[in-house]
Amino acid sequence: MTLSASEVHALKKAPAVEGVLPLFHERWSPRSFTDRDVSPALLAKVFEAARWAASSFNEQPWRFLVGRRGDSAYQKIFASLGEFNQKWARSAPVLILGAAKTKFSHNSAENRHALYDLGAAAAVLTLQAAALGLTTHQMAGFDHEAARKAFGIPEEYAIGSVMALGYQGEPAALGDETLIARETAARTRKPLSEIVFKEWGEAAKL
Ligand SMILES: Cc1cc2nc3c(=O)[nH]c(=O)nc-3n(C[C@H](O)[C@H](O)[C@H](O)COP(=O)(O)O)c2cc1C
Repeated sequence: MTLSASEVHALKKAPAVEGVLPLFHERWSPRSFTDRDVSPALLAKVFEAARWAASSFNEQPWRFLVGRRGDSAYQKIFASLGEFNQKWARSAPVLILGAAKTKFSHNSAENRHALYDLGAAAAVLTLQAAALGLTTHQMAGFDHEAARKAFGIPEEYAIGSVMALGYQGEPAALGDETLIARETAARTRKPLSEIVFKEWGEAAKL
């Protein structure tokens, strides 16, 4: 007997820390999604949140291609996914491909932070989705060039990641032992001492 969707959701929640928004501890990346479609109004809200992320020179280099189950954008994004990701992402009702403009619009100089800014917008998007009861799972495992070709994405745009978006499904629906084991495993993180330094490699006192 595997855990139910709500049991897994509770298990994935990181321990609360006073003063830290619960949303940050509650967001996690499932691989099982229900059949339920995401309304265009909810999709607009998650992109609205992403739109307000900070970016270098306020360039807003992010661009998002959205595929909804059954449409050609979905097919193109899905076809670019690696075999492992295709196994589970097929249950997601929405697939999003992120790209970033690598030249500044005001002077055509290289924007070395374009992907950084796309990542920031994607992080905002995932948290807004979580606040709306939706869930997201980002993927690096896809063929960038296949995606570029399928959509005709110009060379001056760097490809970021693919994101599955929808409603969390039952772990058992994954129908694969390895996937179910991952779905029902607790989340882990490095301690602050390993990631916040006062000198390189020396933990800051917090
Ligand atoms: C940029 C990026 C790429 C990722 N690529 C994949 C992927 O190709 N396949 C996959 O199953 N998960 C992928 N993940 C999900 C991570 O493994 C997951 O976010 C991480 O283990 C932390 O788990 P959490 O999001 O549930 O906290 C990716 C996440 C990010 C942010």
